[in-house]
Amino acid sequence: MSAPSNASSLISQLTVEEKASLCLGANFWRTAPVERLGIPAIMVSDGPHGLRKQPDEGDHAGISGSVPATCFPTASALGSSWDPQLVRRVGEAVGREARAQGVAVVLGPGINIKRSPLCGRNFEYISEDPVLSGALGAAMIEGLQSQGVGTSLKHYAANNQETDRLRVSADVDERTLREIYLAGFEYAVTRARPWTVMCSYNKINGTYSSENHWLLTTVLRGEWGFDGLVVSDWGAVHDRVAALAAGLDLEMPPNLGVSDAAIVTAVRTGQLDEAVLDATVARVLRLVDRATANTQPPPILDADAHHALARATATECAVLLKNEDDLLPLHPAAGDNIAVIGEFARTPRYQGAGSSQVNPTRVDVALDELRSAVPDGVEVSFAAGYGIGSTDRDEELAAEAVALAGRAGTVVVFLGLPAADESEGFDRTHMDLPDNQRALLSRLAEANPNLVVVLANGSAVRLSNWEQHAKAVLECWLSGQAAGGAAADLLLGAANPSGRLAETLPLRLEDNPSYLNFPGEAGHVRYGEGVFVGYRGYDALGRPVSYPFGHGLSYTSFAYADLTTTVAGRHQDGDLVVTVTCQVTNTGDRRGKEVVQLYVRDCEAPVARPVRELKAFAKVDLDPGETTVVDFSLTARDFSYWSTKVGDWVLEGGAFELAVGASSRDLRLTAALDIDAPPLPTRLDGMSTLQEWLADPTGSALLRKAIGADEAGRPKGILGNEELMKVIGNFPISSLAAFPGLGIGHSTVRALTDEASAARG
Ligand code: BGC
Repeated sequence: MSAPSNASSLISQLTVEEKASLCLGANFWRTAPVERLGIPAIMVSDGPHGLRKQPDEGDHAGISGSVPATCFPTASALGSSWDPQLVRRVGEAVGREARAQGVAVVLGPGINIKRSPLCGRNFEYISEDPVLSGALGAAMIEGLQSQGVGTSLKHYAANNQETDRLRVSADVDERTLREIYLAGFEYAVTRARPWTVMCSYNKINGTYSSENHWLLTTVLRGEWGFDGLVVSDWGAVHDRVAALAAGLDLEMPPNLGVSDAAIVTAVRTGQLDEAVLDATVARVLRLVDRATANTQPPPILDADAHHALARATATECAVLLKNEDDLLPLHPAAGDNIAVIGEFARTPRYQGAGSSQVNPTRVDVALDELRSAVPDGVEVSFAAGYGIGSTDRDEELAAEAVALAGRAGTVVVFLGLPAADESEGFDRTHMDLPDNQRALLSRLAEANPNLVVVLANGSAVRLSNWEQHAKAVLECWLSGQAAGGAAADLLLGAANPSGRLAETLPLRLEDNPSYLNFPGEAGHVRYGEGVFVGYRGYDALGRPVSYPFGHGLSYTSFAYADLTTTVAGRHQDGDLVVTVTCQVTNTGDRRGKEVVQLYVRDCEAPVARPVRELKAFAKVDLDPGETTVVDFSLTARDFSYWSTKVGDWVLEGGAFELAVGASSRDLRLTAALDIDAPPLPTRLDGMSTLQEWLADPTGSALLRKAIGADEAGRPKGILGNEELMKVIGNFPISSLAAFPGLGIGHSTVRALTDEASAARG
């Protein structure tokens, strides 16, 4: 990276000790100043679904003590919106709050892939899919940074569990890393250019992310052109000098007196080239420059407007999973009685615990919101039904709720995960709702069949052992401080659900593709399912699920028509573009939003590929009867896989299938497409098998010539014996040289190798 001009002159004036000090924070939340040269400290704070600004000497893990801020829906909810524009608006609002609080960098978004439903931080992550994670992560970055506030894209990379998170080695093959675990980071870094990236705690294939030169320098900076600063996750640095050499710029929180001293000694003893230190310092100074560039006065905050945005956002995030008999929306009229049951209706759960926990400016209570929104004369009665703190059955609470349900026209039951069930710092051990809630539900269903369940949980919960009791299920996730108001809007039809699942809801935890390899043991977690993460795995295995990736209902309906594909340019010229269009019509009687999803299938893949992969999506808002044309542009990368053989993305020509639809298992239209691409150059030598020689036109001609034919033109040696070829066709030809009578001697192998390489130039 070239240093900004004032940075170059500053660096030349800094002592080695001062340079070392800049590679560490000054305290928990601030970078180090160098007052002598007018270099200020800047402040960072957690996010990103709301600002968590703690006082300088905050307790970090403690939740209290952060300044009030708007708590927006957490990432698992935002992910379900499938709406980059909306996420961008949330980013802008968080950015305004950060600017108002003098915070220079908000530590988020987190876009780690949801590998297992058990990951304790799934509520902080967007999706099991890298395209969705990358697009929404980029939108959050763009929104925040448009306010002159930086972001920290985290946790780079392969931090997909909390178990042993500071030490575990994520053992992942490179293709899986590239296609699944790095792809979202790549998209967000190249499109949205975050000011900083936060490295993860864990190791990747045995090397800590904080010391991983391949990850931080070769890929992030070299391949993706990242020009920002890499900050450690809090406590992720173990060897400051190794981390510096790998490309880790800023250690947080600082190991004062230890890490800085180690850097100085390493430079003085020649262990570390001072130029590496200078490049790091230049990146720190650039961040300080960016953070101090905006000299406008901080914005005046409008807490009401941000609360309203939080409410509107929460309505877009909820996923209507089922809605038998069109039970929702409710249409209560004077004289009706709605029974609201569940402690969560009165004591909302709307965010997760740990470093992202926000001190909200206010909190909507669903019960109050429902009561104030129903028409006059409608009774909204309430019973707690269960206690949140324990899973023991409280018979008195349950009996009261069942009696209430029996007297009501409709029953709305608020269920979910208690805060203690999911948090940063530990993984879950199961994905069930608490026993007392499930037991209550079955009794309520006996008392009243018109039963709606409203869910509050950050990570996916199992539905298959209770959903038969409910006619309608509305998954609200952890939807921020206005979750209660949003639930009322959705239940009563003031808002139309438009969220779609950003992760598959399996029938059982055991069906999840990572199940046998999560969370690992003895310091290692093996990503044995490879690229078959989430729906990629369920689909490849043909496993039924409760609700597939991309699923979500609406109070209206949509029809798809006229799928077209147009190919422009050529892969070999680097300008291949496939344009895909389709028409979507709102066929119902109310306005609503549809998420149009485009999946690609490689029908002739030479490597194991998922049955289908999301490549693009669009959320469209349509009036009843309205039709719109949705168009997508795909490039070569959308048809490629990461080839470990070539060490690059590879598009192999042939047949592909494009499918558009309302979920990964509700594909409405498909189109076949043939893509032309030059064959991969193959290197043929003695270790190439007989079959590989024969599959290559040049190799086959050379081999046939070398082995020769009899007077009748019949091939000699091995080429004349088809049965034997089946048996030993997968032998390298140099191994066949020892077999008599095949027509391939050692000198033939040498000559063939030379000729094949000469033919390739
Ligand atoms: C978390 C990060 C967070 C940091 C600072 C770490 O424990 O993993 O996500 O930004 O703390 O609070």
